[in-house]
Amino acid sequence: MTITKVLSFNDDAIDLAAKLILAGDPVAVPTETVYGLAADATNAKAVARIYEAKGRPSFNPLIVHVHDFKAAQRLGEFSDEARALAQRFWPGPLTLVVPVRKSVRVASIARAGLSTIGLRVPAHPVMQALLQAVERPLAAPSANASGAISPTRAEHVLKSLGGRIPLIIDGGATERGLESTIVAATGGPLRLLRPGPTEVDAVESSNGEIEAPGQLASHYAPSKPLRLNALVAQADEYFIGFGPIVGDANLSQSGDLIEAASRLFDLLHQADASQKPKIAIASVPDEGLGVAINDRLKRAAA
Ligand code: TXA
Ligand code: MG
Repeated sequence: MTITKVLSFNDDAIDLAAKLILAGDPVAVPTETVYGLAADATNAKAVARIYEAKGRPSFNPLIVHVHDFKAAQRLGEFSDEARALAQRFWPGPLTLVVPVRKSVRVASIARAGLSTIGLRVPAHPVMQALLQAVERPLAAPSANASGAISPTRAEHVLKSLGGRIPLIIDGGATERGLESTIVAATGGPLRLLRPGPTEVDAVESSNGEIEAPGQLASHYAPSKPLRLNALVAQADEYFIGFGPIVGDANLSQSGDLIEAASRLFDLLHQADASQKPKIAIASVPDEGLGVAINDRLKRAAA
């Protein structure tokens, strides 16, 4: 069990948080909406640890927080409409889903393998201070255990994730108490994916349809048939191994589920891009992060 420190917002707390994040640990910090569980978005294992700490049984694309619009533009491609929203509402409780730039270092697990990225420039001084200190984009879902209510106070985070994360920075109650508005600008008209504190009238009037998060049709799945729980590969299969089951690639030779989660989407993409017309994958234990891995694999195989 990890001992969870709760520190008030000051320079020392930010220093420690930055050290932990650069070492690959997730840290809970307030934003203006809810407390987020932040990890280095360029470090796949660090992002996998977010899922482990939350006990989340499935992978969702996460919101990647950046310091300003310039930093956002380095990661995503902004249409004129997306740029106008960013300039009007950032910093603030608006997330923009845009096409990801090729060859950015954001881990594929942070995007659940998608070719788009959810970006937000938060207004809160604590999250801003942390972004400046680490000089990395930070993936951060709400800092609660899976299925629990989003936390608006450090006490809520401690109750939910105490013993599972090393640090919570206490910045008092969050101002908005509601997760950010999410708008997709991925070609075609802007779409409202999640209503929230930022009222984006133009989006609603141009297209009233709301997609519930978690039910996104855009979830990444390989284009080839995928066979689960394979022990050996057929001749026409690209084989992803796990533990002692060797393949063309291996999720984790040591059987480490954090490593396996961190490599999952990269290896699915790699298998998709290979010469072989089919994909097979070894079985992954259905415990801890393995539950989320298997959920993703079942959907990818369906
Ligand atoms: O206010 C907030 O947005 C908080 C604070 C911490 O910033 N964060 C938050 O993250 O609510 P989370 O993980 O609970 O919600 C992330 C949601 C996903 O469920 C998904 O709907 C959407 O953001 N999302 C992120 N990236 C996406 C993408 N590439 N495509 C589609 N949806 C995406
Ligand atoms: Mg949440």
